[in-house]
Amino acid sequence: MEHFLFDDALLKEIREKFYYVEKDHTGKKRLFFENSGGSLRLKAAVEAKAKMEEIPDCPERTNNIAEFLQATKQKALTDLREIVFGAKGGSIVCELTASQVMFRIVRAIVENVPGTNVITTSVEHPSAHDAAQTFAMRTGKEFRVAMGNPKTGGVDIDEILRHVDKDTCLLSVMSASNVSGYLFDIKTIVKEARKIKPDLFIITDGVQHLPHSSFSAEETGVDAVNFAPYKAFGIRGCGYGWVSDRVATLPHDKLLGKVPEEWELGTFPHPNFAAISAVVDYVCWVGSHFTSSTDRKELYFAGRDKIHAHEHALWVRMMDGTDKVPGLRKQEGVDVFLDSSNDTDRDFIAAVGIKGMDMASAAREYYKRGVTVFERVNTSLYSKRILESLGITGCIRVSPLHCHTVDEIDEFLKITQEIVADQRLAAK
Ligand SMILES: Cc1ncc(COP(=O)(O)O)c(C=O)c1O
Repeated sequence: MEHFLFDDALLKEIREKFYYVEKDHTGKKRLFFENSGGSLRLKAAVEAKAKMEEIPDCPERTNNIAEFLQATKQKALTDLREIVFGAKGGSIVCELTASQVMFRIVRAIVENVPGTNVITTSVEHPSAHDAAQTFAMRTGKEFRVAMGNPKTGGVDIDEILRHVDKDTCLLSVMSASNVSGYLFDIKTIVKEARKIKPDLFIITDGVQHLPHSSFSAEETGVDAVNFAPYKAFGIRGCGYGWVSDRVATLPHDKLLGKVPEEWELGTFPHPNFAAISAVVDYVCWVGSHFTSSTDRKELYFAGRDKIHAHEHALWVRMMDGTDKVPGLRKQEGVDVFLDSSNDTDRDFIAAVGIKGMDMASAAREYYKRGVTVFERVNTSLYSKRILESLGITGCIRVSPLHCHTVDEIDEFLKITQEIVADQRLAAK
């Protein structure tokens, strides 16, 4: 991986574009290191939504305001299809959440594509795992699960492929783990799985990965992918997906009078569409500092790549530290789970623990000291299956964002030292 950090001037500008980077909304100083649970908000996305909410007009009319609202929607659909999902053709699926998108697409495939088994992995978010299991059960298909690898925090390609056969109806594999940051090599998985079944339907959950890197449905060859804007600096209350031409026309819930490939159901929310285009504008703006291209897709990909690279450098800093403050790997009293070499490409998630302290208490200690992190524990339905298949019972998930600085990472490391020291005193 390239060692890259945004320079101070650009990082300052980036930070100014977000709400609450240094303080929470009550004015309390804090580090928001919970960006896999809901990312820092881009001001432009919130403002674009608010502005559009002021307009009362129905977009399904023929006047000039409706035309403006329709143009807003068309721009967003193109942004989603070509840029966020890196796709050509197909249809965009809009719902309230990414989970709903996943259930809808999986249902259309499993109910309508011939085959006797459905495959997913043990490390999927429940929305992908349970969608696959639910519709496999309803259609009497065998449900198969490829198991996680505790050494990598992901699932080996061979382990996935050994479940695929000529009767597989659907393979569902996430693009990145929201617990370990492990990146799945979706392109290779698709290529190898289709050697076994050439017309295999494949979906990837892109909710963790797409906010942190560029993605191309076209290049990977998947049939479907989903995405949640609120994890990508955007707003809550919408989830999006892309489906290939052959999935788009499978039977699904829609108004009967609309074209077969229509997945929209109900009057479209133009404020949400304006917000997603504001996110794309922002990433393109980041990209414009690194490429002279004026092509929106190239700008976006350049922006995402630099966002990913900056986050990778912050992750290395958090792991290795400096002469002044030891990294997590070097702090006695800290467990680093599901770690990988510095050269490994991954999303910036650190799964850690404080020795002798349960995860919820550790997360509370961080919170008291002004750091928001999240405890993932095996008593939670969102975490149990994933953690146990990766050989751990819990961890604290630390997920900063590209808006953060190396100084903030060092501050986190010092706070971790303090928590460890206090824990030792308390144990005496
Ligand atoms: C990897 C992954 N997939 C899917 C989801 C579901 O997103 P939502 O709860 O917004 O539907 C999440 C949410 O945490 C996630 O992390």
